Formats: sequence, structure tokens, C-alpha cells
Amino acid sequence: MKALKVPKSRAEEVRRLAEKIGAKDKTRKIRVEGDYVIIPIREGFEDKFDFEVIEDEKPIFKETKSFKEIVKKIAGFYPKYADFKRIGDLAILKLPNEILKYKFEIAEEIFRKYKVRAVWLDKGRKGMLRKPEMELLIGNGSETIHTENNCKFKLDITKVMFSLGNQFEKMRVARLVEDGEIVLDMFAGIGYFSIPVAKHSRAKRIYSIEVNPDAYKYLLENVEINGVRNVIPILGDSKHVTPEDFADRVIMGHIFAEDFIPTAIKALKCEGIIHYHESTPVKIIDRPIRRLKHYAEKLGASVEIIGFRRVKNYAPNVYHVVVDAKLRKSC
Ligand SMILES: C[S@@+](CC[C@H](N)C(=O)[O-])C[C@H]1O[C@@H](n2cnc3c(N)ncnc32)[C@H](O)[C@@H]1O
Repeated sequence: MKALKVPKSRAEEVRRLAEKIGAKDKTRKIRVEGDYVIIPIREGFEDKFDFEVIEDEKPIFKETKSFKEIVKKIAGFYPKYADFKRIGDLAILKLPNEILKYKFEIAEEIFRKYKVRAVWLDKGRKGMLRKPEMELLIGNGSETIHTENNCKFKLDITKVMFSLGNQFEKMRVARLVEDGEIVLDMFAGIGYFSIPVAKHSRAKRIYSIEVNPDAYKYLLENVEINGVRNVIPILGDSKHVTPEDFADRVIMGHIFAEDFIPTAIKALKCEGIIHYHESTPVKIIDRPIRRLKHYAEKLGASVEIIGFRRVKNYAPNVYHVVVDAKLRKSC
């Protein structure tokens, strides 16, 4: 089995190319080894890339294939929006209506096959706090520690969300942070961005604002268990507690936070960067850029768009995207 060994800085671009030309081996997971990303590819595509091709000695196979098999065995088919993920030692299922009646049977199989502590049904997220609605299907326990990008995240999956789809984005932002930067994480949650930035950059300080006391409690714990010293957790509404003119970089990791753009701009020093997330229909994919420009103009700041990427699919024909914008204020 072959894989590409790609420097981290080129990994996303190569992953996309491999997907596009059908070279990516979707049965194995992409993984990080030191400064490189190992991207599994199918036989016959070895000469399509200008990167080192290695023998994949430690392949990690995707569990979703077996999840598919389980669903197919029980329901007789595999519907489009079914999903399975593991957070720490817990399993979380998303089952569309047409297979909901099999939820306990599917959970029992998952429980046995993956030896997880509990299997939960994900029924979506509510409101600005993105609080999960979960139903326990089998087993017990909702608190766990999930490890990702060498960071530990302790959380209760019934109280706070955790998105596996943002894994690459967290590391991408962490790598962009320059030595000595002051970073503001406006929607810190349990430390989704703050912890990777603290661990994988040399930021001077990371101010992490979180309004939900449940998430804040885990943010405090995650600062402790990851041994990071430069994260300053703040319990409060970022619209009201964010100071002005102090940050080199603002992370707006909430997909419904247009209203907070003025606060983010005011938080920046004379010049700085905002990573603005939004869920946007494909038909109006440039909406987040227009919104950033609109508020910047209102506040007399200039904007240069320095990056734009899809983080993941949010819903059919709706993407979760992130805009990287450099702003210059008149000061
Ligand atoms: C969607 S989650 C962040 C998800 C994260 N970006 C990820 O990678 O998984 C958003 C967090 O923002 C918090 N939040 C919502 N409104 C807020 C506000 N006004 N001030 C501070 N935090 C807020 C929520 O409680 C939640 O923990």
C-alpha cells in the first residue's frame, strides 16, 4: 500500500489534487508524522505527484466503512446522511429519518464492534451556544477525553459540541500564528482553537472568551491538562467583554457570528488578521467576504482577503467556510 509523504505546508493542496484525480485511497486515514502528512494513495497513481512515495507501513483504516457495513446489514441500505464518529471512547451516530427505527440495533453492533463506553444519537445543535441534543442508545457516560493534533480535549458530549471536521483548520491557523502574537479566540468553547494555537505556535498570549459556563469549565480543565501557560480564559459574551486595539489576530470560530464582526475589527491593533467562519449556501459563496468588507468600510478600515477555504460541508449545498482577512485601521 502506497502513500505520499508531503510537507505539512503543502498537504491540503495535495489532498485536494489526490481527491480530484481519484488517487486518494479512501479506505485509509490521512495522518501526521512529524513535519509531514502521510496521504494514502491507490496503486497506479505513484508517478502523478512530485512528492516522495512511501510504503504505508502503519496504515490506519477508516472505521466508517465498517459503520456502512453495519447499517447496510441492519437496514438493507446505506442512506446519504448517516454518519459515525468517535470522540474519545464514545461513539456518536447521525441517523437520517429513514433508518431511525433501527437506532438501537445499530448502536448495539457499534458498541460490540468498537468496544466504546457508550453510543449516542446526535439530534443536532441548538442556538448560538451550539448545544448538542443527544440521546443515549447503549452504555453509559458522556464525559470523555478526545485527543487530536497532540492536544487533549476533555468534554461532555451532551453539553458541548465537538467537530472532527475542523481538525485541519485548527492546525492551519495554529501554524499561521507568528512568534509573540496576541491572539483573540472570540468563541473559545472548550479550547477548540486556543489549545492547538497554544501548543503549536509561539503566541505570546491567547485570550479565550466563552459564554457557556459548561464549556468554560472544560476550557479551564483543558488549559490545565495540556499544560499551556499562555491561554487566558474569560467567561463572558465576547460582544460585551472584548477589549479594543490589542490583538494581532482574531479567530471567529462560530458559523453564525456576522454580528460580531465589528467587535472583532475593534479588537485588532492598527493592523491585524481575522479568521471569519460562516455557513453559506454555495450559490452565494462570497457572502462572508462581502460581509467583512461591509463592516470594515463602516468602521473606516481597509480589507485584504488573503485566504478563503471550505472547512467542511454544513448541509446539502451549504458550506462552512473560513475567510482570512488582513485589516488596516486608521490609527
Ligand atoms: C460552534 S462552537 C465552536 C466550534 C469550534 N469552532 C470547533 O472547531 O469545533 C462555538 C462556541 O461559541 C460559544 N459562544 C456563542 N456565543 C458566544 C458569545 N457571544 N461569546 C462567547 N462565546 C460564545 C458557544 O458557547 C460555543 O462554545
